[in-house]
Amino acid sequence: MGVWRWLCLLALPAGAQVTFSRDVAPILHRHCVSCHQPGEVAPFALATYADAARRARQIAEISALRRMPPWLPAEGFGGPFEGERRLSAAEIRTLARWAAAGAPPGNLAELPAPPEDPDDWRLGKPDLEVRMPEAYAIAAEGPDEYRCFVLPLDLPGDRYVRAFEFRPGNRRVVHHALLFTDHSRAARQRDAESPGPGYPCFGAPGFLPGGALGGWTPGSNPVVQPAGVAVRVRQHADLVVQLHFHPSGKPETEQSTVGLYFAAAPPRRRLFDIALGSREIDIPPGATRYRVTDSFTLPVPVEVAGVIPHAHYLCREMRGYAVLPSGKRRWLIRIPEWNFDQQDQYRYVTPLVLPADTRLVMEFFYDNSAANIRNPHRPPRRVVWGPGSADEMAGLHLQVIPVRETDIPELTQALWGKFMRAVGGGFYRPPEP
Ligand code: HEC
Repeated sequence: MGVWRWLCLLALPAGAQVTFSRDVAPILHRHCVSCHQPGEVAPFALATYADAARRARQIAEISALRRMPPWLPAEGFGGPFEGERRLSAAEIRTLARWAAAGAPPGNLAELPAPPEDPDDWRLGKPDLEVRMPEAYAIAAEGPDEYRCFVLPLDLPGDRYVRAFEFRPGNRRVVHHALLFTDHSRAARQRDAESPGPGYPCFGAPGFLPGGALGGWTPGSNPVVQPAGVAVRVRQHADLVVQLHFHPSGKPETEQSTVGLYFAAAPPRRRLFDIALGSREIDIPPGATRYRVTDSFTLPVPVEVAGVIPHAHYLCREMRGYAVLPSGKRRWLIRIPEWNFDQQDQYRYVTPLVLPADTRLVMEFFYDNSAANIRNPHRPPRRVVWGPGSADEMAGLHLQVIPVRETDIPELTQALWGKFMRAVGGGFYRPPEP
């Protein structure tokens, strides 16, 4: 049975008639129009009755399949996360009933006011506003582009960033942004070597960052560090912004701005990145469920503040979980259908506290068959680890804070040991016994 017929059945026990002005507009305002309005990232607007009525059936179908609003983590497997975009079952039913009834407008005079499009900085005036020095031109057509831009900060001294807001100049083409700091001048060098503003960079920014501030996706909130945490930015550091562009069908330009908010004092608490992942990736063509896994046992109790998953186009499913000392499993995140173009970072509404001796586990599954519509190779080819868009990666970054400050050296040492074991084969081999 097709989705539409199933939806019509779902819509059957209709009581009072569902109308656009009373029932549907509030749902679209709350969950959809931040992206579906002119000048925003979605390809069409859902802001007016005419816009929505024309697509009533498609809206009902896509919502029932939970393809919209875009949100990758599955409900009930870790989280809740801040800023979750999810329709309730009742909202999905309302959209289905409205479409099945022929999209009645109701009394359009009583239409609720659309949400305001805040033009002001959402956290108030930033301590420092920096802009891409030049606008970058994006062609009308062609493949997606990943490019890094250097924004000199000219800081009078070291600073501690407690929050930032990224503002694209042109929301039609910017699909996501990642912000890094560079105090090695390596990014400037790459910029100088590459014609035009910025330089091409996919996945990784093309240098070893001094720090990572976080990311932006359409509809996301400013990134605020957990209380007491801030990212140190050295005096002569540059800000490097990695942008993912999706051509809009017309020639466009982009010149983004970043607002930085500084902490008054150095941070009291330290955020650690526990990077679960592997470079041992070698996926034969045609493999449908190739597994990559890694784990790390916590030497000390920590609070998990957030999680940042990363892989490219072949990855289908991501699992992150904790095995408690009791043997009980606790989900950190599960993404049943990964989509590189919607990559995001996730912050827990309430940080998870995990005891020492908890084992953190990541398990990613890759589909290198022709049936994977995102497979960059036609026909499928062998794919190994690498930073390019046709290579693969596997990373689950857990942002943790030790519960006791005195545990910091022990956690640092354990993470260093993990890192050495991971790169060991690369430049160091322990002597044969
Ligand atoms: C965070 C931004 C965002 C939000 C919020 C959002 N959309 Fe979308 N929508 C998009 C983008 C971008 C596309 C273009 C296709 C793509 O990139 O996935 C899209 C495509 C669509 C499509 C076309 C079908 C398809 O799969 O291409 C429909 C229908 C749709 N959205 C409906 C909705 C509805 C209904 C809501 C609210 C319940 C919503 N969207 C919320 C960004 C968003």
